[in-house]
Amino acid sequence: MRKTALFSPYTVKNVTLKNRIVMSPMCMYSSHNEDGKVQNFHKTHYISRAVGQVGLIMLEATAVQPQGRITAQDLGIWDDAHIEGLKELVSELKSYGSKTSIQLAHAGRKATVDGEIYAPSAISFNEKMKTPKEMSKEDIHDTVQAFIDGARRVKEAGFDIIELHGAHGYLINEFLSPLTNKRNDEYGGTKENQYRFLKEIIDGVKQVWDGPLFVRVSAHDYHEDGLTAEDYVTYAQWMKDQGVDLIDVSSGAVVPASIDVYPGYQVGYAETIRHGANIDTGAVGLITSGLQAEEILRNNRSDLIFVARELLRDPYWPRTAAKELGVEIDPPKQYDRGW
Ligand code: FNR
Repeated sequence: MRKTALFSPYTVKNVTLKNRIVMSPMCMYSSHNEDGKVQNFHKTHYISRAVGQVGLIMLEATAVQPQGRITAQDLGIWDDAHIEGLKELVSELKSYGSKTSIQLAHAGRKATVDGEIYAPSAISFNEKMKTPKEMSKEDIHDTVQAFIDGARRVKEAGFDIIELHGAHGYLINEFLSPLTNKRNDEYGGTKENQYRFLKEIIDGVKQVWDGPLFVRVSAHDYHEDGLTAEDYVTYAQWMKDQGVDLIDVSSGAVVPASIDVYPGYQVGYAETIRHGANIDTGAVGLITSGLQAEEILRNNRSDLIFVARELLRDPYWPRTAAKELGVEIDPPKQYDRGW
C-alpha cells in the first residue's frame, strides 16, 4: 500500500492512534434536564465517527463546574454521577478501534447559565452578556481543584487522552490574555502571572493523570493589544516543560473581532508553535480534504489534523480522504467480510 502521512500511526506516551485524524471537540448542547449526562444522541453521534475510522474521537467541551457551562445543556464532569455514561461511551468507541479523549472546560465569562459567572476580571464579553465576578483566590483554588477532580473522573471513565480547553475566550484563555486579565495579583500583570492559572491546572491534573495531555489554545487574539502566535510559543515552551504532550492550535474568540478565514487559516500558527517551542501540534480550521491534510503533515506543519465541521457533514470523512489519497483503509471488522 502507498504510504501516506495522514494514515500513519501516531504514538504519544502509551497511546497509539491508527491515523492522524482527530474529531475536533464540538459542543452538541444535548444533555437533558441540565444534568450534564451523556444521552443516546451523544452515543450515536460519536460512535458514527468511530465506525467511520477516525483515529481519535475527542468529546466536546465538558464542564468541570456547573457555572463553567457555556449552556445548561453542556456535557458535564463535575460529579461522580457523570462517570457511568462517559464510561459506556468510551468502551463503545474503543470497540471500533478509535482512541478516546475529552476536552475539560470552564466557560468563564462566556457562561450563559443562571446565577453568578466567573472570570479573572469583571469585564463582560459584550453588552449582551453578563458581567462576571472577579475571581477571588479561593474561587481560583476551587476551580483548579475542579479541573483536577474532572481529570480523576476522566481516568475512571477510561479515556486515553485529556485535552484542556485553553482557547476561544473561555476561562483559561481569559487568564492567558491581557485583554481579559486585568488583575494585579500573582495571577495577572506579567506573562508568568497570566500563565499561573493554567500552570496550576496542568500541575494538578498531572498528579492524578499520567496519560497524554493536550492543551487547545487560541494562538491569536486578532487585536492590537492582544496575544499572537509568538506569545504562544513562549506559553507552549512552558507547557512543554510541565509535560504537556501536544498543543492543539486554534485562534480567536477572546474578544469580539472579525477574522479573515480561508482554507487552513490557523495552520501557520500550528507551524510556528511546533518549530518555535519544539512541541507536537494539532492543526485545525477549514481543513476539509485529504490532500490538504497530507500537505500539512508532510511539510511538518503539524502532527495531527483536527477536523470539525467536515466530520459533521461526512462521518466517514477518513474513508473519503483515503480515496482522495489513493489508499485503502480497513473498515470496521463488522464490514470486513470480503463483500
Ligand atoms: C466547535 N468548536 C469547538 N471547539 C472547542 O475547542 N470546543 C468545543 O466544544 C467546540 N464546539 C464546537 C461546536 C460546533 C458545532 C462547531 C462547528 C465548532 C470549534 C471546532 O472544534 C473547530 O476548531 C472549528 O470548527 C474549526 O474547524 P473546522 O470546522 O473548520 O474543521
